[in-house]
Amino acid sequence: MAKKVKCGVIGLGLMGASGHVYNLTQIPDAEVVAICDINPEHLESARQYVGPECKLYLDADKLIEDPDVEAVVISTPNHLHRPQAEKAFACGKHVFTEKPMAPTIEDCLAMMQAAEKAGKILEVGLLCRYNPQFHKFVEIIQSGAIGNLQMMFCKEFRAPFQNLLIQYAHTLRTKSRQFADSAEAAKAAQEARTEVSLEEQKAWWRMREISGGALVEKNCHHFDIFNWMLGDSVRAVRVFATGGKNVHKEFEIIDHAWVTVDYENGVKGCLGLCFFAPWGEEVEWWAIGDKGKCECHLHKEEIHLITSRDHREIIKVKFPEPKEPGHRGSRVELEEFIRCIQTGSKPYADGTIGLRSVEIPIAAERSIKLGRPVEISELYA
Ligand SMILES: NC(=O)c1ccc[n+]([C@@H]2O[C@H](COP(=O)([O-])OP(=O)(O)OC[C@H]3O[C@@H](n4cnc5c(N)ncnc54)[C@H](O)[C@@H]3O)[C@@H](O)[C@H]2O)c1
Repeated sequence: MAKKVKCGVIGLGLMGASGHVYNLTQIPDAEVVAICDINPEHLESARQYVGPECKLYLDADKLIEDPDVEAVVISTPNHLHRPQAEKAFACGKHVFTEKPMAPTIEDCLAMMQAAEKAGKILEVGLLCRYNPQFHKFVEIIQSGAIGNLQMMFCKEFRAPFQNLLIQYAHTLRTKSRQFADSAEAAKAAQEARTEVSLEEQKAWWRMREISGGALVEKNCHHFDIFNWMLGDSVRAVRVFATGGKNVHKEFEIIDHAWVTVDYENGVKGCLGLCFFAPWGEEVEWWAIGDKGKCECHLHKEEIHLITSRDHREIIKVKFPEPKEPGHRGSRVELEEFIRCIQTGSKPYADGTIGLRSVEIPIAAERSIKLGRPVEISELYA
């Protein structure tokens, strides 16, 4: 039996503690030997998931330098992914970093180079790549069932980030299995406030430079799926976006956008983002080919294949039990990270996929600012 991979987790917030730390404790081949957060309360709260022998750090450098830590899981705000990953590679550690890989192309390239130089695994937390629903969706598109793919569409109309619990309540009401059942989360959802406090306005994800902007922070997942629908071999060439702040004027980031993407093979993509819907409505992807249409209804856990006016096939997606907590794919992506470390194989969501997933939203943010189409090549100039 392969020996357990000793992991250290940095950033014990929403995603890091009940997500990564907990999930790692459920993976037989992983062991959480150290956890870190600059916030002592978050560090203390994450202790519930780990054993008494797990080391606690307030300084990420100390965790990275700890010789017991073989693999570092980074779940800090986006602008910290690059420096923490570079440091980890320099210390000879493997790295799993949350999405978005980083807020700039330059950061992503530097991370890939550092991984290459160290000869270590770099995986990016694009968890949709590990979700069976998207695998089925992409498989149908690539099987030719809708002919040649011509147009892609995605909509995410939701409440602002702080209303996640309200969205969670909505998914409970609609009996969606998007989030794991939890009495604690259900209670918190009922008590969640809808107004945006001053503290929340100053949260890192609202800071453009730190997060990369709303489209980078939120929609790298969605643009990643566009890339995947095209088999990851077709590059986006041009992005034209329009967006701004119409409702949440106090935010630094935009609260709505339409983004159109031209791909090198003539396929067109379009994404709509709205942060002032009453709550998270269903996120949908459409693929339109020259012989049919395929729709991915995320929260309904359904895929619809439409090949004529009278033919709509509804495919219910089967998920493995037990249900993962939080977003689907979050445990599977870590299982793959551990397996890749043990076998030396390349993770599915590697540095290149991570980089491509931020190209389009970075170009879109720039397009909104400049009021003109932005060529992807400009990002590398
Ligand atoms: N894959 C997904 O679907 C998904 C979902 C949510 C968040 N995320 C990503 O996960 C990352 C974390 O997001 P979150 O929602 O958990 O944010 P969060 O604010 O809840 O947590 C971030 C944590 O990092 C800590 N931190 C900040 N600076 C630090 C430092 N220098 N050293 C150590 N700890 C530090 C903070 O104290 C906080 O506890 C982000 O990159 C975000 O984009 C991914």
